Amino acid sequence: MARFHALPVAAVDRLTDDSVALTFTVPPELAEEYRHAPGQHLALRRRADGTEIRRTYSICSPAPHTEAPRQLRVGVRLVEGGAFSTYALKEINVGDEVEVMTPAGRFTLAPAPGLYAAIVGGSGITPVLSIVSTLLAREPKARFCLIRSDRTAASTMFLDEVADLKDRYPERLQLVTVLSREEQQAGLPSGRLDRERLTGLLPALLPVAEVAGWFLCGPFGLVQGAERALKELGVTRTRIHEEIFHVDAGTPTAPTTPAPAHSTVTARLDGRGGTWPVQDGESLLETVLRNRSDAPYACKGGVCGTCRAFLVSGEVRMDRNFALEPEETEAGYVLACQSHPATEKVELDFDR
Ligand code: FES
Repeated sequence: MARFHALPVAAVDRLTDDSVALTFTVPPELAEEYRHAPGQHLALRRRADGTEIRRTYSICSPAPHTEAPRQLRVGVRLVEGGAFSTYALKEINVGDEVEVMTPAGRFTLAPAPGLYAAIVGGSGITPVLSIVSTLLAREPKARFCLIRSDRTAASTMFLDEVADLKDRYPERLQLVTVLSREEQQAGLPSGRLDRERLTGLLPALLPVAEVAGWFLCGPFGLVQGAERALKELGVTRTRIHEEIFHVDAGTPTAPTTPAPAHSTVTARLDGRGGTWPVQDGESLLETVLRNRSDAPYACKGGVCGTCRAFLVSGEVRMDRNFALEPEETEAGYVLACQSHPATEKVELDFDR
């Protein structure tokens, strides 16, 4: 069950003009709760002036092997007008306490021998940095091809950390950088990494069919283009893992269908259940939250997956889903923040 704890900030490192890495100290008594897999994220919460803001940020530090983590580091990029990122970049100082949820997310890789690859854009490097550094440190028979796209070198997050990894594992880490708005002295010509370019580029870079897992992370357009390119190249969906960091307001959502007049949701959460009427237009998460303030969520936008619940009975309509893999929806999982009842009774289990 996801929980928030106030963790002290041990370091605030400026990465670029518009991004920082925040390091939190994990006290020994909470270390087990913050044990994480490489690629997972943390939701951060700020309560001020009667409002509550939550945002998820990926962990960039490697996942410790056997011991629990003593520190956790996340990358935060400033979003224009972003309430939390502005606070993180301008106000958070070493020694402050920040409310941090226990790790969540399924964009992860369990270290195993083989060839892996990632296509990332902008801050999408953050979880992949944890995945690559954990994999190469733990599994000597693993190799990784990291393809990253940024606007300019100056706006590239974790430039030094990635260069250090390349120095440490020159044979096992292949690093390909594309800058969309700046020519590089060496490497690929500038320009966007879209579907067409990737379809031509990937077979020239690595043996596509041998890649055991593809990790796509960044803005919706880049992830969607990369997924289409991989499908064109014959990669099966089960080998593709995606995490979307930014969804444009214009991104299509599922068509709306009228909800039954009087619906109820029954939800099980942290071992306790309840049944409540769903008010007109609200999501199932909102119904549950009105009655159980401990219901898990972060983005409320269908992106982070924190509100995932198992649909025990009934049917729901989801507005949009950028978080669940097809296997998860087929297995019966839904995003509560995007779900509306399509039957009079709906039953969710947040504990499964
Ligand atoms: S709260 Fe992020 S997907 Fe529902």
